[in-house]
Amino acid sequence: MKKILLSILFTSIALVATETEIPYAIGLKLAPQADKIYAQECASCHGKDGKQTSFSGFPDVITYGVIAGMDTATLSKMIKEYRGGVESNDYQPLNKYGYGAAMAAPTRDLSWIEIDAVAKYINGLK
Ligand code: HEC
Repeated sequence: MKKILLSILFTSIALVATETEIPYAIGLKLAPQADKIYAQECASCHGKDGKQTSFSGFPDVITYGVIAGMDTATLSKMIKEYRGGVESNDYQPLNKYGYGAAMAAPTRDLSWIEIDAVAKYINGLK
């Protein structure tokens, strides 16, 4: 009797599991926390306000543009291009000033959804 009940229980769990539509992207437990991602992954080189334009971690001092307030779609596209993983046969990671490699590590672990959220956050930096 116990076995029958257990098998009914497991069958119904399996049915519920297969029929339930997942309301969020798989693996995403929370909406991306763009402010925290920015503070942790980007602020050290781009500044809390997105206006820092140089980084001296390489032998030479590297300079790049202010990112605060840039257009969200442009930011999103650039960050994805620095990160890599864009599907295209002639794809080359972005290397605007010759130091694109510096952007690979901080962006590598970000999902497309997180990158879109960070782009929106940077667009809002004043
Ligand atoms: C280790 C330092 C470092 C970190 C951390 C870093 N960046 Fe960068 N970033 C750079 C460098 C260096 C460049 C210039 C790369 C090149 O040569 O194209 C750059 C370029 C950029 C650009 C293009 C700027 C321009 O002038 O067009 C954007 C946008 C950007 N980073 C966003 C981000 C975001 C978002 C993060 C966090 C997820 C991040 N960066 C983390 C160093 C860093």
